[in-house]
Amino acid sequence: MMTLVFTSILAGLLALLCYQRMSYPFFLVDLIYYLKLRGYRKTLEARMQRGTVTYLDCFIYQAKKNPNKPFIIFENQILSYQDVDRRSNQFANAFRSEGSLKKGDIVAQLMCNEPDFVCVWLGLCKLGCEVAFLNVNIKAKHLLHCFQSCGAKTLVVGADLVHLVGKEVLPDLKKDNVAVWVVDHTSPSEDFHSLLDKVEHMSGETLSELPKVDIMSNFLFIFTSGTTGLSKAARVGHMKAIVSMAFFQMCGATSDDIIYITLPLYHMSASLLGIGGCIHLGATCVLKKKFSASQFWKDCVKHNVSVVQYIGELCRYLVNHPVVPEERAHSVRLAAGSGLRSDVWKEFVKRFGGIKIREGYGLTEVSIGFLNYTDEVGPIGRASYFNKLSIPFELLRYDPQTYEPVRTDSGRCIRAQTGEAGILVAPLTATNQFLGYAGDKVQAEKKLLKDVFKAGDLYFNTGDLLLHDHRDFLYFCDRVGDTFRWKGENVSTTEVSEVLGLLDFIQEATVYGVTIPGYEGRAGMAAVVLKKDQKLNGTKLYNHLVKTLPAYAWPWFLRIQTSLDVTETFKQLKVKLVQEGFNLDITQDPLYFLDISQKDYIPLTVSIYQDIVSGKIHL
Ligand SMILES: *[C@@H]1O[C@H](CO)[C@@H](O)[C@H](O)[C@H]1NC(C)=O
Ligand SMILES: *[C@@H]1O[C@H](CO)[C@@H](O)[C@H](O)[C@H]1NC(C)=O
Ligand SMILES: *[C@@H]1O[C@H](CO)[C@@H](O)[C@H](O)[C@H]1NC(C)=O
Ligand SMILES: *[C@@H]1O[C@H](CO)[C@@H](O)[C@H](O)[C@H]1NC(C)=O
Repeated sequence: MMTLVFTSILAGLLALLCYQRMSYPFFLVDLIYYLKLRGYRKTLEARMQRGTVTYLDCFIYQAKKNPNKPFIIFENQILSYQDVDRRSNQFANAFRSEGSLKKGDIVAQLMCNEPDFVCVWLGLCKLGCEVAFLNVNIKAKHLLHCFQSCGAKTLVVGADLVHLVGKEVLPDLKKDNVAVWVVDHTSPSEDFHSLLDKVEHMSGETLSELPKVDIMSNFLFIFTSGTTGLSKAARVGHMKAIVSMAFFQMCGATSDDIIYITLPLYHMSASLLGIGGCIHLGATCVLKKKFSASQFWKDCVKHNVSVVQYIGELCRYLVNHPVVPEERAHSVRLAAGSGLRSDVWKEFVKRFGGIKIREGYGLTEVSIGFLNYTDEVGPIGRASYFNKLSIPFELLRYDPQTYEPVRTDSGRCIRAQTGEAGILVAPLTATNQFLGYAGDKVQAEKKLLKDVFKAGDLYFNTGDLLLHDHRDFLYFCDRVGDTFRWKGENVSTTEVSEVLGLLDFIQEATVYGVTIPGYEGRAGMAAVVLKKDQKLNGTKLYNHLVKTLPAYAWPWFLRIQTSLDVTETFKQLKVKLVQEGFNLDITQDPLYFLDISQKDYIPLTVSIYQDIVSGKIHL
């Protein structure tokens, strides 16, 4: 009798399961992911009770728990958790006694990937300072702008980057009484203070007291080129940093993993998700000064790497690189990151062996993130009932000309339908804060949408277009507005047009990004109107770009126009220019291409065009 009841219950369950499989095939994985997120929340609560909540707390906890475990492997050095702890204490002591730094001071850090990047940073955290990571590609006036905009009074420069703090930057820093420290034993000139000679004499013992922090307050600044103008220093709160640290764990990594980080630490993905994710697990990180496609698999084999962090561009470089024997001899089992296109993904997995890919989506400014945890190729995440429980968001219908959300007669926004691309927005709540940008209220205001579904509600506008399909998958479509992505960086079009406008022969320049088959993101292009009776001087333009902009922001194509079409709005004009791209069949305007080897812009011919599109000419 019992068995009969039991089997019929089982049969019923089985039928239910089959029904659920057919109508909600992803029910189970969605639920598991949701439970994992809840599990993480529990870990977090436990951490809070232990009093080890913040990024720094978590590091100190690991240093106590596993003092001798290797934390950072860099070139020929191996630093254990304890080594990094002690060295960061030495930095903290040096900054306190020699630099009089204290809680609340803002310190800008201009360093390449190296262990001391982390030691300096953690040392400053131990004093309660807020750091601002400067992008090592920016130059001269823009470097100065970034430094000044975050309100820092101290600058720490890597020994190999001293040349960036040259005659266009130093005089202004001196005028503002900024202390410049170089991470070296000696100082290149009297304008710098050397740091390492002092650090050596400092105690590595634990600091007597660590500053108390409010986890709702600001942790650090990360520069993002948002939608307009120069880079902005986005405030990243403690809460956001704590949540980011769960990234590798959510992807399935453990404390036994050896994680390879080649992305620049001044970006959030490497510093918070990467190093932070490693600290959260108590894992080992193999840090690379700079990504190298030819060294990648060799390093993975040499260090027995099991997890790699990527951005889409990096995977494409690897896929485009000639075969090396190590590419199938490694033990990498997981690749976690963002921006991977499905064509590259397929090739990547086929060529490099059974690597599990975890694709995520996240922003610097707010805590909104998705993770691809199913076996579907292409989507960045899921938008099921469960996902919305943990991370609320909406996709809004937008006007394709202006890229603004469409509002009804009563002023409310409309949700995009299934299968229709919409602008991703996230409601702001106590746990999903947006702390804004340093010294820039107006820019922060621009990122906010008010009265979206009811009077008084507030949303963060990500400016990203996503599509939600009938199976609840989310796909990334494009970035709207005045930035485009190239080589993993945001390029601000206004910043580039301002730089072009400085040249004596250019009257006006409109900058935008164009897609090229086989490339992630968009390559820069400028529609230029020349001044009366002036000619394009490509060499001069090239030299100007080298001096003022990082290489990823240079326009690869120029389109010379006699006038900008004034019958259309600026946005409409841009949309048209973007659509026409550098296609010789569509436009009659003269087109030019940046030939790096000649350091000049050369006329774009049919054969050059074909070589670019076929990948023979590599950008
Ligand atoms: C490499 O890692 C694997 C698993 O992560 C482990 O089984 C193996 O012993 C490691 N090999 C070396 C040489 O450390
Ligand atoms: C690009 O812009 C977005 C949106 O402002 C930001 O979240 C992200 O961190 C930026 N990425 C980089 C590399 O600056
Ligand atoms: C999502 O993850 C699965 C592995 O579980 C992978 O097969 C798929 O390619 C991923 N999608 C993307 C866009 O990376
Ligand atoms: C272009 O500009 C450079 C100065 O940067 C100048 O030496 C050169 O003569 C110019 N070429 C033409 C064709 O005007």
